[in-house]
Amino acid sequence: MALQLAKHRDQYQQAFDAVLDSAWLVNGPQLAAFEQEWASVSGAKYAIGVGSGFDALLLCLKVYGLGPGDRVGVPAHTCPATAMAVLATGATIVPIDVDRQSGNMDLKALEMVLCEQVLQAVIVVNLYGRAADWINILDVLDHYPNIKIIEDNAQGQGVWSDRVPGGQVGSGNYAISATSFYPTKNIGALGEAGAITTSDPALAERLRSLRDYGNGADRFVSTEQGGNYRLDELQAAFLRVTLLGLVEFNQQKIKVTQRLNHALEGLAACYGNTQPDLIQLPLTHDDGNGHLFVIRTTKRAELQQHLTAQGIQTMIHYPCPTHLQPVLAHLGYQAGDFLEAEAWAAECLSLPSHPMLSDQELDRIINGLDSFWAMHSNLLA
Ligand SMILES: Cc1ncc(COP(=O)(O)O)c(C=O)c1O
Repeated sequence: MALQLAKHRDQYQQAFDAVLDSAWLVNGPQLAAFEQEWASVSGAKYAIGVGSGFDALLLCLKVYGLGPGDRVGVPAHTCPATAMAVLATGATIVPIDVDRQSGNMDLKALEMVLCEQVLQAVIVVNLYGRAADWINILDVLDHYPNIKIIEDNAQGQGVWSDRVPGGQVGSGNYAISATSFYPTKNIGALGEAGAITTSDPALAERLRSLRDYGNGADRFVSTEQGGNYRLDELQAAFLRVTLLGLVEFNQQKIKVTQRLNHALEGLAACYGNTQPDLIQLPLTHDDGNGHLFVIRTTKRAELQQHLTAQGIQTMIHYPCPTHLQPVLAHLGYQAGDFLEAEAWAAECLSLPSHPMLSDQELDRIINGLDSFWAMHSNLLA
């Protein structure tokens, strides 16, 4: 992160100065310009900047009028923010299990839920920077025209995939789409920020109103219940800088993940037959943006300890499935209800995959995994 900030330091400084000179701090030209640029990069007609990814999801739910009495499908394995946005509206969260390989929403699990209960909306997440199975999911949801579809694209910025209609994730063309510009995302702000993309002019207009106290045509006259979900001028100006580097950032990130993948495939070929479940590699990020490089391991605590001892920092995205979040205990779900999500939560481990990782740092990670795999392999028994 520090390296990335240092790389663009001068441009961020200029952006800061430009806002300071303009003395326009909220709802000004930087926001308007960023929204246009983000819409264009996303292949969307409209972009609406907001204060965070959570705000973006919340407003997507609000613009569809979702609230108490409504049921919203949410992947059982995702960042807790996805479910927390639903919780904030008062709607009921309906967990849907995920796919064993990708961690994204499982098509069969979605079909099962739809057979058993009536949903008013579904949030589909592009987890770890890989497109969900959108074309097939939309095929299924075609049979339920009353269900609103929301894309949680906090992690999928800049992804192109043949699993998506039109090819571009987050375009707002097949679903209203929410993203986050949290600093660790592929497009990070220098603080909190998010955006919504849509191709629907009426939705875009209402979203702009909702993010600003429900203002109608006249300022300070609220025509519906909104709030303060605004994206300020400084963050918009910083985002315009970050956005310029998106293609290069994603390319570098993909290069890092390809190198990791390639090395791990070599290790799997060497040790995999003796310990097939010890380490499972991520699906190749051929059409992803390399946002997170997540392996699965049945010995996560040991591997994490082993890597930490060698100065390699890892993280867990995410340790608790949606249905077992303590704050959702009132929904009455139990361990065993969504087995794939629970397995992901128990086994996932994110390896460092920053685009500016040096060759030596990459070697250290690969050597750390090599020594762990060797230690636990029957080859050494
Ligand atoms: C999948 C997903 N959804 C939603 C969010 C929420 O974004 P933010 O942290 O900007 O509120 C995040 C980011 O952490 C995320 O990864």
